[in-house]
Amino acid sequence: MKVDGKPTRTIWLEPDGWSVGIIDQTALPHRFATLRLTALDDMVRAIKSMQVRGAPLIGAAAAYGMCLALCADPSDDAIERAYATLHATRPTAINLKWALDEIVAAVRNQPREARVAAAYRRAAEICDEDVAINQAIGRHGLKLIEEIAARKPGKPVNVLTHCNAGWLAVVDLGTATAPIYMAHDKGIGIHVWVDETRPRNQGASLTAWELGRHGVPHTVIADNTGGHLMQHGMVDLVMVGTDRVTAQGDVCNKIGTYLKALAAKDNNVPFYVALPSPTIDFAVSDGVAEIPIEQRGAEEQSAMTGRTADGRIETVQIVPDGSAVANYAFDVTPARLVTGLITERGVLEASREGLKTAFPERAEGGR
Ligand code: MRU
Repeated sequence: MKVDGKPTRTIWLEPDGWSVGIIDQTALPHRFATLRLTALDDMVRAIKSMQVRGAPLIGAAAAYGMCLALCADPSDDAIERAYATLHATRPTAINLKWALDEIVAAVRNQPREARVAAAYRRAAEICDEDVAINQAIGRHGLKLIEEIAARKPGKPVNVLTHCNAGWLAVVDLGTATAPIYMAHDKGIGIHVWVDETRPRNQGASLTAWELGRHGVPHTVIADNTGGHLMQHGMVDLVMVGTDRVTAQGDVCNKIGTYLKALAAKDNNVPFYVALPSPTIDFAVSDGVAEIPIEQRGAEEQSAMTGRTADGRIETVQIVPDGSAVANYAFDVTPARLVTGLITERGVLEASREGLKTAFPERAEGGR
């Protein structure tokens, strides 16, 4: 994607060849700011505080976090400590563990003096692979949009997306947004209903920002609006991302996704999930029972941050003093509610068979 006309990824190696640049996503949509990270602790903070977030980007960031740790100390002990520290930052997105395992596999059998270079090489590959995967997801998802467009000539295809599974959640392009950007670039009329307006406003702050930058028509809605729109024929398809898909095709994504899937089922609206293969966790089956659901700080619910009329960024409390607050960050949509999984290898049935047939090499290893 371009920022001020310049092609920009969400994570990059700085010109010094070892420190890591990121976009500070907590400053969006009001300010575009970047940060230079030079140590493991910087990366841990960035992931925990959600300066970087979104499952595939968390994976890429963790990979570079390992690189920064190795720069300081390439010993086996240090690698183990860095792995454990990064793994504990966010529990739900499986891409984090996948990327950490990839780096460990790349450096494990290397002599100490070769480990840093091997880690940086694999981290760069993870980033490039992510971009290629998203392009493939885009091409497969585009066909779904084209089919709908052909059925309603002259009218825009209305897509509903939840949270941010866009450019900002990955290294470039996005998962759920890849088909949307490709359709828009091809001149297909498309309009996006944007939600996740609570708990973190990732739709309102991030998806709306990046769609707007790319010129894609969109409308921000309150999270609870989706069902109403579907009842009135105002949504042609739902396309969301995911933080973990189980071996049987259950989908874990930002809290509220499950309710969108239920509403979609009740209204015969197709519900698609876009994912890169590192998001599949073949080690778990029943998503509701087995996926750890991150619970985040109460302040994300009890307060809201925004820009005042005179341009100041302020946080205000919106819950009475003393009220208990719960902040579950993700939920699980059972496979039976998912119309299809859009992967780099095509659109699959959300089932054990569908996933195993498309990714036999992963399914057999159970990871
Ligand atoms: O809590 P976040 O902002 O990291 O959660 C992001 C989401 O839920 C996305 O939909 C998901 O990571 C898919 S990313 C392509």
